[in-house]
Amino acid sequence: MTFTRISHFSLFFSSFFFLSSTLSSHLYPASATTPEKDGKTRSLYSEILRDEAVARLNDLGKVSDADGYLERTFMSPASVRAGFLIREWMEDAGLRTWVDSMGNLHGRVEGMNASAQALLIGSHLDTVVDAGMFDGSLGIISAISALKVLKSIGKLGELKRPVEVIAFSDEEGVRFQSTFLGSAAVAGILPVTALKISDKSGVTVQDALKGNSIEITEDSLLGLKYDPASIWGYFELHIEQGPVLEWVGFPLAVVKGIAGQTRMKVTVRGSQGHAGTVPMSMRRDPMAAAAELIVLLESLCKHPRDFLSSGGNCNEQTLESLSTSLVCTVGEISTWPSASNVIPGQVTFTVDLRAIDDVGREAVVYELSNQMYKICDRRSVSCIIERKHDANAVICDQELSSRLKSAAYSAVNKMVGQIHEEVPVLMSGAGHDAMAISHLTKVGMLFVRCRGGISHSPEEHVLEDDVWAAGLAVLAFLESHM
Ligand code: GLV
Ligand code: MN
Ligand code: MN
Repeated sequence: MTFTRISHFSLFFSSFFFLSSTLSSHLYPASATTPEKDGKTRSLYSEILRDEAVARLNDLGKVSDADGYLERTFMSPASVRAGFLIREWMEDAGLRTWVDSMGNLHGRVEGMNASAQALLIGSHLDTVVDAGMFDGSLGIISAISALKVLKSIGKLGELKRPVEVIAFSDEEGVRFQSTFLGSAAVAGILPVTALKISDKSGVTVQDALKGNSIEITEDSLLGLKYDPASIWGYFELHIEQGPVLEWVGFPLAVVKGIAGQTRMKVTVRGSQGHAGTVPMSMRRDPMAAAAELIVLLESLCKHPRDFLSSGGNCNEQTLESLSTSLVCTVGEISTWPSASNVIPGQVTFTVDLRAIDDVGREAVVYELSNQMYKICDRRSVSCIIERKHDANAVICDQELSSRLKSAAYSAVNKMVGQIHEEVPVLMSGAGHDAMAISHLTKVGMLFVRCRGGISHSPEEHVLEDDVWAAGLAVLAFLESHM
């Protein structure tokens, strides 16, 4: 087992986005090799934490609604099949299982004291379109594997508090454009109106659940909220989805906090017409307007200082934070009627906007909307901007994070022998279920290195030995609850 290391990397990467844009050229370390035969490595439970976990990740990665790529959205047939598989694995690890009325799958062991505050460990079982197989799944599988190790050595009953693994039904928000349907329900922050949100085919969240024999009512949704007094805290392990760990040559990191995010839908309407007959000067073309709006978004997010002045809500600290952390994306665009010889009547696109500073994010949304309306007015097209989702930035709990740091240190130390580096601490630009659960209880997260920092892509990859390191870290964390 070898890890490529650089010295002095016990940094706090407060400026994660800066690093991600400057460090990606560093070489990925050669695949680690493991002396399997001696007793020491056998005692690190590699059969369960690495070999079986990797096999399960591969199996889950094949459970897809699409042919040829991975796609599992909220309550889709593949999501339900994935739930069956995960449920089997939870039961194999000695957990009692159930599915709640938001489609979340739970697996719980009571430990020594069923009435003690429970430790929740979770991540999501849904995926983006053309996804990688580690985003979400790794957090679920590593938790199940670590509990299976405890079962196999007869220590599951020694946990001093209940431990509950939750495979959340929706974190990506692909189907309903509203993220965290599963975890927000458990945290008690999902408004009952969410049940009526429809997907592109007009199927509502409530219908999607009903189609899978899950009846949810406004009352039963409210009943999903956990009692905060019954929970000790929440832990989520996730792939980093960025390149820093690869660059520093370390498999695990502790997460300091998670950037806040806003999702919007912009609809631009103009005058539909014949591509060959309407003179350019007489057009009200929503496609050209949308292009200008998208370029505006890019400029504003690249150079927020040029658009937002210091003073008011945006002080110097906010502007500085925006300059290093603001990221904006248009990931989805559709036109009507979408034909090469027709000037479109309507163009719709999504905006995904993230920043560490919540006040700054608000200021950006405000300025962006103002400027967008001005462009639409100038072009004589109409413009509707809808806010679809907002989540404030989250700072992870210090005590929980320091326990996780020790667990990560102990995992890597066991695998490679004495290590001298500190476990890196990173900010997360990606959203996680921990954001929703932070409304219920204290949260902490670990990140796992992934190749090239690539995620939301079939190229997403985690070394087998890093899956093992992840499982060992979860195990060490569980052992701190014995
Ligand atoms: C989830 O992966 C997100 O950050 O969008
Ligand atoms: Mn994701
Ligand atoms: Mn994820």
